[in-house]
Amino acid sequence: MILKPNQRENILPLPVVLISTVSKDGVRNAAPWSNFTPILRPLEEVVLASWTKRDTLENIRQTGEFVVNIPPVGMEDAVMICARNYPPEADEFFEAKLKARPSAAVKAPGIEGCLAWAECVLEEEIVREKFVLIIGKVVTLTVDDRFFGADGGMDFQRAKPLSVMLGKEGMSFTYPAFSGRYAEYREMFLPSATKGSV
Ligand SMILES: Cc1cc2nc3c(=O)[nH]c(=O)nc-3n(C[C@H](O)[C@H](O)[C@H](O)COP(=O)(O)O)c2cc1C
Repeated sequence: MILKPNQRENILPLPVVLISTVSKDGVRNAAPWSNFTPILRPLEEVVLASWTKRDTLENIRQTGEFVVNIPPVGMEDAVMICARNYPPEADEFFEAKLKARPSAAVKAPGIEGCLAWAECVLEEEIVREKFVLIIGKVVTLTVDDRFFGADGGMDFQRAKPLSVMLGKEGMSFTYPAFSGRYAEYREMFLPSATKGSV
């Protein structure tokens, strides 16, 4: 079967994060985002793709800050309330009954009940006709210790970070499962001749 090129989001699982921001007047906003990714391991930057008409984008422009919250399974209803097109003056923490969690380095609060909170500052915007790529730098990264090991690795089978598969009429919320295969990063590198001979 051949799909349309613009169905490319149907062919891979996407993360679901909640981006929390405040406007310059202090109105709290939260919105789900799936076009989110870290930019290359082990750098500190992340990128969000945003339609040009988003309160989140406007707030990031006004304040230069945002928080990437990682919701677990169970927060789907709050995620979908935050996805509604409320006007900019609506407090979306209030609408979705989210509890604010004070951030360490930015004004925007995080969201209680999430698994991790990446406080970010705006580094660069790449503006296109229909969308904007927002590049941010993580300045403080905090995790819920109950779901993370001492090395900072997530017990994802217990934590169940929310992800999503998109379809024609809607989306199915999902979460990651272990395939049974673990791989160390060093598997990616061929043993060098020097190393082999030493
Ligand atoms: C699971 C999910 C993922 C989403 N991902 C994005 C995204 O990556 N970029 C985007 O511009 N909108 C995305 N949206 C839509 C926004 O969340 C939605 O338009 C929201 O109302 C924007 O809120 P705001 O205007 O307060 O920023 C997504 C919605 C859902 C439900």
